[in-house]
Amino acid sequence: MTETNWRVRPEMRDDAPAVRAVNAAAFPTEAEAALVDTLRKDSLVWLPGLSWVAEAPDGSIAAHALLSRCWVDGVPALALAPVATAPEHQRRGAGSAVVRAVLEAARWYGERLVLVLGHPEYYPRFGFVPASRYGIRPPFEVPDEAMMALVLDDSASVPMGTIEYPPAFGV
Ligand SMILES: CC(C)(COP(=O)(O)OP(=O)(O)OC[C@H]1O[C@@H](n2cnc3c(N)ncnc32)[C@H](O)[C@@H]1OP(=O)(O)O)[C@@H](O)C(=O)NCCC(=O)NCCS
Repeated sequence: MTETNWRVRPEMRDDAPAVRAVNAAAFPTEAEAALVDTLRKDSLVWLPGLSWVAEAPDGSIAAHALLSRCWVDGVPALALAPVATAPEHQRRGAGSAVVRAVLEAARWYGERLVLVLGHPEYYPRFGFVPASRYGIRPPFEVPDEAMMALVLDDSASVPMGTIEYPPAFGV
């Protein structure tokens, strides 16, 4: 069953524990939950307004998507990571709703390029294509189709080169 009426909004100050819980529940380890907390403390890469949540009907947080600063050839871009839906809410559109919302916010903020390392079956629905089409590559070995890029602003040239992630990613 698809629920289409997820309420999506930017993360607020008191949401951090619930965001942590959603990430810890969605992924096999707490690494992604810890990544979010580490990024939140790095004011160079944490962009207020680009951590979004989807609320379940009872107001609890069902899904979370984060965009943080990265660079390609020294040009600012965004990394979409992590994206998580609490297991009990998966496959009902919460993940898609929160991803669409955070990407729309990024566009609104004038961001130009988003990169994601993830399921090649999932992200093309949001417009992502293999990053290699733009000559963008990750600083580690992954299957080509798993590293994807979304250009938000066609009017600017797209930087080419290796993605530089913030230190929190540990790559
Ligand atoms: C991936 C994830 C965020 C999707 O969130 P969701 O709320 O379940 O997604 P939606 O309901 O919006 O969309 C469901 C679609 O996602 C697809 N999907 C879910 N998990 C997937 C996976 N592991 N690989 C590929 N596709 C997946 C489903 O096939 C479904 O596609 P369909 O609509 O064509 O049937 C969620 O399953 C999750 O948190 N997974 C564990 C953590 C994770 O892997 N995060 C992503 C890292 S790249």
